[in-house]
Amino acid sequence: MLKLINFFKIIKGFNLRIFLKLFIVILKKDYSKYPDYVDGFENSLCKKFNSEFCLSFSSGTAAFYSSLLALNLKKKSKVLISSLTFPSVIEILKKFDFDIYFFNIDRNFEIVDENINDQEYDLLVMTHPFGFYINSKILDSYLGQNTKIIIDASHSQGMIIDKEDHIKFADISFMSLQGNKAISGGEGGVIFTDNQNLYLNMINNHHPGHKKNQNLEIAGGIKDLKLRIHPLASLLALEDLKSFENRNGKLIEKIKNIYDHLDKKKVQHPYQKNRVISGFHFGIPFFSSKEIVADVIKKYNWYTNLSDLNIKSISSNDNKSFFKELYFIDLEWIKKNKISKIKNIIDKFLEDAH
Ligand SMILES: Cc1ncc(COP(=O)(O)O)c(C=O)c1O
Repeated sequence: MLKLINFFKIIKGFNLRIFLKLFIVILKKDYSKYPDYVDGFENSLCKKFNSEFCLSFSSGTAAFYSSLLALNLKKKSKVLISSLTFPSVIEILKKFDFDIYFFNIDRNFEIVDENINDQEYDLLVMTHPFGFYINSKILDSYLGQNTKIIIDASHSQGMIIDKEDHIKFADISFMSLQGNKAISGGEGGVIFTDNQNLYLNMINNHHPGHKKNQNLEIAGGIKDLKLRIHPLASLLALEDLKSFENRNGKLIEKIKNIYDHLDKKKVQHPYQKNRVISGFHFGIPFFSSKEIVADVIKKYNWYTNLSDLNIKSISSNDNKSFFKELYFIDLEWIKKNKISKIKNIIDKFLEDAH
């Protein structure tokens, strides 16, 4: 019986259009290098997010690595990141000879501004985690005219700040297209920039066979690793891109509704009225001093102590209880279930908390 229900769920989600597209492309073996549809995907992304240039990659991590290389920062550059930064992003930064610092995020998902030490940074890597916009205004006095900004928008697709998509507030923004991201190709990544030089640098470094690569006539002509996307991933992600706005609008409303419910239950969480939320990934965050164990609950699984990784804290605040008490309600479960059922299950796991 359960198998039959699962089968109907799969059939319900079946998308004939993408099935036919993939079928034809595979039949024609048109899935290597840069078929026109990869260009088409990048153009659609540029249009949707109002970016001059977009370039696809094999992963979000690869897109970030390429962004760093293109910025050509000096050795010992001072790099500032958030305590909520994805581990592979941190690992890439550690491969460069940078001095890395981090700021803490508080329970409202805002930057902790006490005791920030007073120095200028060469690069800010700004993550908007789990769909929450983090306002970086309080960091402005630590960012000089030449400070570069990279935004990790892997969880914050479609975030609009002052009528502009948030990806515009950076020299380069990137998104992972992996797994259950709001726009997913299974695996993949993409960068957005308005700077043509950075865009061309990234092509010359990582995209052999790209029509704008200056070494196009040399086989495999690149200056660094090959990091282009598998074309079939771009077809899958394009399909998600088409339905993104509609899905995202509904999900934002559902998540606000869940946070309203958590307010009624006096649960601490980072959402406040009029807070910009969008995109999402993994789960929706809340805090509990009591231990919660339930199938639909996930615990934070990124690095929780960046000081251990030789990354210096710029605030004196201790974040241990933040991570200990941080829980997530599984986003994929939220997407699949009705709000009434979600509220019932929330009530149950809160009652069971000890
Ligand atoms: C916020 C964030 N940044 C970067 C990445 C890395 O992307 P990828 O796994 O595509 O390399 C992820 C992956 O889940 C992520 O969640």
